[in-house]
Amino acid sequence: MRKRTNYENDLRRQAGNPPTTVAMLMGPRARILGIPQQINLLLRGPAASVAGFMKLWSQYFIPTLKESPADAEIASHKLLVRAGLVRKLGGGLYTYLPLGLRVLQKLSQICREEMERGGAIELWMPHVHPAELWEQGPRWAAAREIMFRADSAGSGKGRSKEPEFVLGPTHEEVITPLVKAEITSYRDLPKNFFQIATKFRNEIRPRYGLMRAKEFVMMDAYSFDVDDAASVRSYLAMKAAYESFFRRVGAQAIAVEADTGVMGGSFSHEFMVPAEVGDDDVIYNEESGYAANREKATSALVPPDLKDAAPAGAIEEFATPGVVTIAALEAPPHSVPADQQFKTLVYIGDGKPFLVILRGCDELEEAKLGSLGFTLRRPATAEEIEPVLGAKPGSLGAVKGTIRNPDALAGVFADHGIRLVGNGVTGANKDGFHLRNVNVVRDLAITAFGDFRRVRPGEPDPKSGQPLKVRRGIEVGHIFKLGTKYSEKYGAVYTDDQKQSHPMIMGCYGIGISRTLQAVIEQSHDADGIVWPWSVAPFQVLVCVLDPQLPEAMELARKIGTAAESAGADVLIDDRAERPGVKFKDADLIGIPLRVTIGGKGLKEGIVELKPRRQKEPVKIPIGDVERQLAEAVARASQA
Ligand SMILES: Nc1ncnc2c1ncn2[C@@H]1O[C@H](COP(=O)(O)OP(=O)(O)O)[C@@H](O)[C@H]1O
Ligand SMILES: [Mg+2]
Repeated sequence: MRKRTNYENDLRRQAGNPPTTVAMLMGPRARILGIPQQINLLLRGPAASVAGFMKLWSQYFIPTLKESPADAEIASHKLLVRAGLVRKLGGGLYTYLPLGLRVLQKLSQICREEMERGGAIELWMPHVHPAELWEQGPRWAAAREIMFRADSAGSGKGRSKEPEFVLGPTHEEVITPLVKAEITSYRDLPKNFFQIATKFRNEIRPRYGLMRAKEFVMMDAYSFDVDDAASVRSYLAMKAAYESFFRRVGAQAIAVEADTGVMGGSFSHEFMVPAEVGDDDVIYNEESGYAANREKATSALVPPDLKDAAPAGAIEEFATPGVVTIAALEAPPHSVPADQQFKTLVYIGDGKPFLVILRGCDELEEAKLGSLGFTLRRPATAEEIEPVLGAKPGSLGAVKGTIRNPDALAGVFADHGIRLVGNGVTGANKDGFHLRNVNVVRDLAITAFGDFRRVRPGEPDPKSGQPLKVRRGIEVGHIFKLGTKYSEKYGAVYTDDQKQSHPMIMGCYGIGISRTLQAVIEQSHDADGIVWPWSVAPFQVLVCVLDPQLPEAMELARKIGTAAESAGADVLIDDRAERPGVKFKDADLIGIPLRVTIGGKGLKEGIVELKPRRQKEPVKIPIGDVERQLAEAVARASQA
């Protein structure tokens, strides 16, 4: 038998007491009480099982396709459509067909169980949010670009410029006011609320099917604690819940340190499924255990005890007509190596220009500018730059006294890496001129140092100094320790035992359920189709009847199906009048873990065939032994 879930264990415990309702008699409990479980329609089924009843393929709906859609670039997207799991409505908008919905429901159920085990409490919030709630929150300016707006139709008003409603991309703006209204005392904390629901984001470039959609299913959770230590405990409980979830659904996700971005907050991990088609780079070293996403990754390139270089001489100006790139300055006649140049970039933060200084050989990691705290940030245009610095891009620098209007700047922020240059070359803020012998400490007008550069593979990792590696990953989950950013804005405070009031410490957590569905396919498929992990397979046993016109064949199929159901599997019977070749191709495409094949010829010989999806060749089994062997195979598979 497969392992019992918590839910079933609870039912088993309750089974000693007299049942109180008809509904309670059904489902797994009914199985325990010896009642056939096919009547289970009302109760939430056992873990990762959609309500019982084996399905007949001919009466069900699994529209498989030979060809992949033209817009599908990656294997999992092609298979989603070809195996009849989803259909596209528009860019980033998908219908879940019955098979896809079953997987989604199983993922949701496993997620629900792990969240509850981790102490979170399920609720359900509206998808349509009054815009004013968002206006009061801390990220309206940054988040409004990705939100769908809605107006109430038919109210007789013209279209207002500002939306009345927005569709929720996540729910901090809803849960925090709720908790403010409902929870006031330390006695009622900690609390962690979650939901599994649809999210809306107006992704500019929806892509790869469910991977980046405009409407998608997310589990989102929000924790509220009395202090930092308690908040860290909630965070770690969620991290553990995520690890169990991804393990159970058969996704090899790893937790990596992540940037907190627009969410704000103090620290964060992303869960990444390694895959070539991923949108994100994971920087890691498996020996030291260091793993961070590209936006967050740092290296030990600059030794902590590095002494600042002494000035190498007086600053000299030299003419560099037409030289406006790092590469051009590297070339003769100037021949200044890129790692001896200072690169000066100009950004606009909340309306004011600021400078970022890097080594000429380094690239800016834009997300790292998030640490500067500007809500809105973008590169400055050439027109914005000249009046402030006094030159066009290509001749810019941050040497004291050369900036035309230093008071206009919100700051000059330098990457730690420039300390390795010590004395270098930079633009003179005068078109066609550069300066040499520029000393970092003596000459540059730096407001603050920070980590702004993009790390490169091979650099020493910050944990142990071992070389960093890079690989692509799909972000399937994200956890943030938020701090008090939202609770302060919305006044979510509690009183302690001394009647003192404090803002609650929050955390927020998200798992892309629909993205995980596709990530599992991306990780687990072969040339013939999907290879579902047992736990989330839409059906776990496929009984393939090659001669469905024979009543004895269908009768045996039902018998085998019932045995598999009793062993805990969800069963699909392929009773279609199709050629064996078509049936086998479809079976491999939709990827059901165990296939039993019943043929007219085998029936005469008294055998059926059993084939795990991962195995090439089937095994012949005497009909008299098939129920036992199948039950064993189901038990093995469900425990793997
Ligand atoms: N457009 C999308 N389509 C599908 N899943 C998404 C999308 N955006 C986010 N997700 C999923 O929701 C999870 C939580 O989202 P979050 O971290 O808030 O998003 P982001 O990283 O895009 O800011 C992500 O880890 C990802 O799995
Ligand atoms: Mg994220």
